[in-house]
Amino acid sequence: MIYENLLRPLLFRLDPETAHELSLSALRLAAKLGPANPLKQSLPTSPRTVMGLEFPNPIGLAAGLDKNGDCIDGLAALGFGFLEIGTVTPRPQPGNPRPRLFRVPEAGALVNRMGFNNSGVAHLIARVRQTRYRGILGINIGKNLTTPVERALDDYREGLKAVYPYAHYVTLNVSSPNTPGLRSLQFGALLDELLDGLMGEREELTAQHGKRVPLALKVAPDMDSQEIKALAGAVVRHGVDAVIATNTTASRDGVEGLEHADEAGGLSGKPLFLRSTEVVARLADALQGRAPIIACGGVFSGADAVAKFEAGASLVQVYTGFIYRGPALLAEIGRAVAAL
Ligand SMILES: Cc1cc2nc3c(=O)[nH]c(=O)nc-3n(C[C@H](O)[C@H](O)[C@H](O)COP(=O)(O)O)c2cc1C
Repeated sequence: MIYENLLRPLLFRLDPETAHELSLSALRLAAKLGPANPLKQSLPTSPRTVMGLEFPNPIGLAAGLDKNGDCIDGLAALGFGFLEIGTVTPRPQPGNPRPRLFRVPEAGALVNRMGFNNSGVAHLIARVRQTRYRGILGINIGKNLTTPVERALDDYREGLKAVYPYAHYVTLNVSSPNTPGLRSLQFGALLDELLDGLMGEREELTAQHGKRVPLALKVAPDMDSQEIKALAGAVVRHGVDAVIATNTTASRDGVEGLEHADEAGGLSGKPLFLRSTEVVARLADALQGRAPIIACGGVFSGADAVAKFEAGASLVQVYTGFIYRGPALLAEIGRAVAAL
């Protein structure tokens, strides 16, 4: 509880992105102490096999917190069953001008329009090669802002080839609201083309590297039931290995009138929970076990995580809840899932 009672009040007095950078630096520094890391915690073992991979527990870090893989060992020490780094793009890019990350504390929420700020795939790979972490590592890939949507496949292909030897699974992020046109890749012919190209590429990479790396598709919560059904159809048709549901929402339900609620960007945290869980349930219904679901969106407690599993998820990821509650959230979810 030191985090919630002491550290968070201090961090929340800082600009959100500065607080973020400071926290990651502290985690990195602590990890340098190895076994003496004071932040080290282990969660109850609660193994799951998903996408053919063995997870020591089903609690993961969502993408976007460690976009460059700069803090893998520091985050791993907190007990996560898996880490997802990125979104990384082929070339480095600055993202949107600051400020681009906002807290809505009354609602337990964040609004962000980071815009895939990242140091590029070569930097991320160098970091992965340096890490001591041997647990499950997902790498989330996207396209550069300057690459037109019609050429998106080129960027995803380049990213996939580069990270393939280093990832346990690769996430195709087609759901960030902060790269214009990106979310159109979730639908119809654009999705089919993207998946066709990448599944073909994966065949070649499997032969080349002697291992088949699962591909997950990360989707937005802002889809109606027809769109969810169509997406599930494409997942099954193309043999996508998992769906991550969900990214941030364009909706502002639950935060109307609050400070920063109207900032442009994606909303995450508590106001996203129900909507995102409903997408998990609808996907589970449409998929009927033909692809596993990784739930993400508004998990702030052990009970929230349990609700995601009840809706049909096989694994959960956290981001905003972790910013608000710190490492104690992982311990609480760990206890809740071990009791399932
Ligand atoms: C500041 C911030 C940056 C994010 N960056 C990414 C990203 O680069 N790639 C991605 O797939 N999701 C990104 N996300 C979305 C999260 O991974 C997650 O899907 C979403 O926030 C919902 O989960 P939550 O309510 O637990 O935060 C980001 C979220 C936040 C708050």
